[in-house]
Amino acid sequence: MKHVHAGKVRDLYELDGDLLLVASDRVSVYDVSLPTPVPDKGILLTQLSVWWFDRLREVVPNHVLSATDVPAEFAGRAIRCKPLEMVPFECIARGYLTGSGLKEYERTGSVSGVALPPGLVNGDKLPEPIFTPTTKVSEAGEHDAPITFDAMAAQVGRDTAERLRDLTLAIYTEGAAHAAKNGILVADTKLEFGFAADGALTLGDEVLTSDSSRFWPAGEWQPGRQQHAFDKQFVRDWSVSTGWDKTPPGPEIPAEIVEATRERYQRVYELITGEKWRS
Ligand SMILES: Nc1ncnc2c1ncn2[C@@H]1O[C@H](COP(=O)(O)OP(=O)(O)O)[C@@H](O)[C@H]1O
Ligand SMILES: [Mg+2]
Repeated sequence: MKHVHAGKVRDLYELDGDLLLVASDRVSVYDVSLPTPVPDKGILLTQLSVWWFDRLREVVPNHVLSATDVPAEFAGRAIRCKPLEMVPFECIARGYLTGSGLKEYERTGSVSGVALPPGLVNGDKLPEPIFTPTTKVSEAGEHDAPITFDAMAAQVGRDTAERLRDLTLAIYTEGAAHAAKNGILVADTKLEFGFAADGALTLGDEVLTSDSSRFWPAGEWQPGRQQHAFDKQFVRDWSVSTGWDKTPPGPEIPAEIVEATRERYQRVYELITGEKWRS
């Protein structure tokens, strides 16, 4: 088994011509991976992704070959996938305004070139979900930057850009509708696509997890303030509260924050899949 890439959170191996995507228990915030692991995180996120990939299989082809035919040492946290030629953009759908989207809106009135009505506040629901791609930067220390649909289309071609946008919004809409039935608002989500060997545009990476999405408890949603987070935002907010300047190395996470984070990841898994977590 050949190690081909160490991401901030996941490791990639080559296995008999397939790709093995192994999720660690690492947490990365502001593109910095923190020194303290969150137990079970890799398994919880992998199993949630696998559940969504299956649930969305009529909406979009995905890269999963098997979530069980994986080396025993990685059981539960690995997916055997089709190696894709990744599209070098992060495909983001937003149904609510917060985070970097809110900052951009406050500066320019739009997000990734999508103009929004005036007067929106943190946590507001958007008139309709919007597609707000960013560049995908892999160099350490660099951050993803918003890009307009037209600029993205100039690089990948208009037809591909339109398909990426339509798929992203379709996945968001379907995912948000299911989550809402179970008490979770999906504020936004990040997807990654690539081309399979046969040329098919395929959903890769992870899908609708607490690392790639903002999940809010629906009952506590209240625009005009920071929302309670079921997701990585919880760790982001804690990390900033320590006075950390968002450059490496990141701070050690105290035990109670680790446990509260683990609980949130487990709760999201249970609410979305309707299945009790086994541990
Ligand atoms: N099917 C696939 N084929 C090739 N690369 C993939 C596939 N699925 C995901 N990836 C890539 O694997 C990496 C996953 O590891 P991650 O820890 O998220 O890395 P990063 O630090 O780049 O976000 C990402 O770079 C993602 O684009
Ligand atoms: Mg990633």
